Amino acid sequence: MSLIFKRKSVRKYRDERVPDELIENLLKAAMQAPSACNAQPWEFIVVSKKEDKEAISKMHKFATPAREASHLIITLGNLNESKVHGMIEQDLGACNENILLQATHEGLGAVWLGFHPIEDRVLKLKEYLNIPDYCIPFSVICVGWPESEGEVKLRYDKSKVHFDRF
Ligand SMILES: Cc1cc2nc3c(=O)[nH]c(=O)nc-3n(C[C@H](O)[C@H](O)[C@H](O)COP(=O)(O)O)c2cc1C
Repeated sequence: MSLIFKRKSVRKYRDERVPDELIENLLKAAMQAPSACNAQPWEFIVVSKKEDKEAISKMHKFATPAREASHLIITLGNLNESKVHGMIEQDLGACNENILLQATHEGLGAVWLGFHPIEDRVLKLKEYLNIPDYCIPFSVICVGWPESEGEVKLRYDKSKVHFDRF
């Protein structure tokens, strides 16, 4: 089975820093994603300072994995670079998934924390990280060395597939 079937959300990490080269590989994977009109309307903020991770982990009740992660990659949509109105969410979704798959490939653990479109989460992150108004913080990807192996459950469900018509 391919990498896709090995990926799972990892929320507990060992206290060990992920090397910068591996983080750069995640960013390369992110920027390799498809995007509408190949606009590549993304920006990234890489956070690794303890106090910043702590602050972000408190921004909403499901953000706690950010505290122990080695790095956080904040994925942002740049509205000035998006070429097709309304497609930026899909562009950023593809970009996030690429990060998760590359992390799996490198033996890292990662989890996607949702921010956009929940207004109070977005505002907190924008204010804390000085994000300009033309950028939307979509999500925070927590990255670290996984504390344990964990297992993946396969989810294929034939009843969700419709041939020719719904
Ligand atoms: C848009 C989106 C938002 C998510 N937000 C959170 C979150 O805030 N906190 C969290 O722990 N996991 C979050 N997740 C991870 C999901 O909970 C996880 O993908 C789902 O339970 C399936 O598990 P798996 O990733 O291990 O396959 C989010 C995933 C997506 C795609």
